[in-house]
Amino acid sequence: MFIIYWRIRKCQLSQLIMMCFVLSVIKVYWESLDSNVLGHIKSYSYRLVNNLDFISANLTISRKEAQKFSDHRYLINHEQKCANRDVMLLLFVKSSPENFERRQAIRSTWGNEVYIERALGVTVRVLFALGRHPRPLDRKKLQQKLYSEDQRYQDLIQQDFIDSFHNLTIKLLLQLGWKHAYCRHARFLMSADDDIFVHLPNLIRYLREVDRAGVKDFWVGKVHRGAPPIRRKDSKYYVSEEMYPWLLYPDYTPGAGYVVSSDVASRVYQASLTLNASLYIDDVFMGICANAMGISPQEHVFFSGEGRAPNHPCIYDQMMTSHGHVRDFHELWKHATDPEVRRVSSGMFGSLYCTLTKFRLLCLQHSLDTYSCKAAFL
Ligand SMILES: *[C@@H]1O[C@H](CO)[C@@H](O)[C@H](O)[C@H]1NC(C)=O
Ligand SMILES: *[C@@H]1O[C@H](CO)[C@@H](O)[C@H](O)[C@H]1NC(C)=O
Ligand SMILES: *[C@@H]1O[C@H](CO)[C@@H](O)[C@H](O)[C@H]1NC(C)=O
Repeated sequence: MFIIYWRIRKCQLSQLIMMCFVLSVIKVYWESLDSNVLGHIKSYSYRLVNNLDFISANLTISRKEAQKFSDHRYLINHEQKCANRDVMLLLFVKSSPENFERRQAIRSTWGNEVYIERALGVTVRVLFALGRHPRPLDRKKLQQKLYSEDQRYQDLIQQDFIDSFHNLTIKLLLQLGWKHAYCRHARFLMSADDDIFVHLPNLIRYLREVDRAGVKDFWVGKVHRGAPPIRRKDSKYYVSEEMYPWLLYPDYTPGAGYVVSSDVASRVYQASLTLNASLYIDDVFMGICANAMGISPQEHVFFSGEGRAPNHPCIYDQMMTSHGHVRDFHELWKHATDPEVRRVSSGMFGSLYCTLTKFRLLCLQHSLDTYSCKAAFL
């Protein structure tokens, strides 16, 4: 009797131990699950059951109060930059006063308006959006340098706010406001960082088709869907509950590079006139403005967001943007616009070769932060 009882106890005991073990494994695993992943699951389910109109409703303030965010005087401006021209694309590069070399590299590669006009027969305006340098001691000297840079290239648009990461939304308002005031007829607006590579010939070819089809409500880039606000204080993208109490952001395209049609630019501008722009993550703010107007972004797999494109002619043939460049602008521009690129990928054999190559580069090498695997099959 006693022995049987003991056996049962032993059996239960081992079950109990087993159970504890499994639970602790789950617990450890659960805790080590990146909080990001959890955040995404939470926000994604939230998004499925909620309509997000209340966010912009909640951030609505009076026009007068909203104006304080955009009411900065121009230090450098070129009101006539778009005048009397049929501008296909107004491209704002978000730069900072000290990034002289980046601007120089852009002017002599993908941002070369003269080349675009000659090679593609369309007018593109590439302008650099700037604020004032944050350090007063360096400001004066830098400002002089900027004036002479601008005298030479006539492509800086600068306002009197401090140029800092936390003022990027003000820089977005500059771009929207400038287009509204001086370049309303440009058919598309692009906003880009100064460390991305834009394959303008590919982009123009694509936008031409969009334009020909008369598409409205056009907003394209890499899309972040239902992304949660980052609450880790040590993150660059930290946003407090006070500033943004909700679990997720409306869908948006990362500020590294996205394009909108003129109608979207002007509606987003209108929305921005009555929204609280203290949320300093500019691309998220853009998402809130667009959401208020019922506009949502569409994904294009060859917009890289924060990722960097692999170097290969089969990629160059389709790339729109690639992030994290500067030193290799010249080389990349030379290779990406080489006529050889078209030849490699053309014909049945070329297209098969490129599909296999892209599959190898985008689907098999997971270590690369780049275009998604889907892009291999387009
Ligand atoms: C704004 O959001 C807060 C917190 O979610 C809520 O308490 C408040 O009632 C909302 N106000 C409006 C006008 O929607
Ligand atoms: C943003 O710019 C304004 C105007 O120059 C300035 O008062 C403010 O301190 C800046 N904010 C940050 C975070 O740099
Ligand atoms: C805008 O939002 C900030 C922080 O979220 C808040 O402190 C500020 O009072 C708001 N501005 C207006 C005019 O409501």
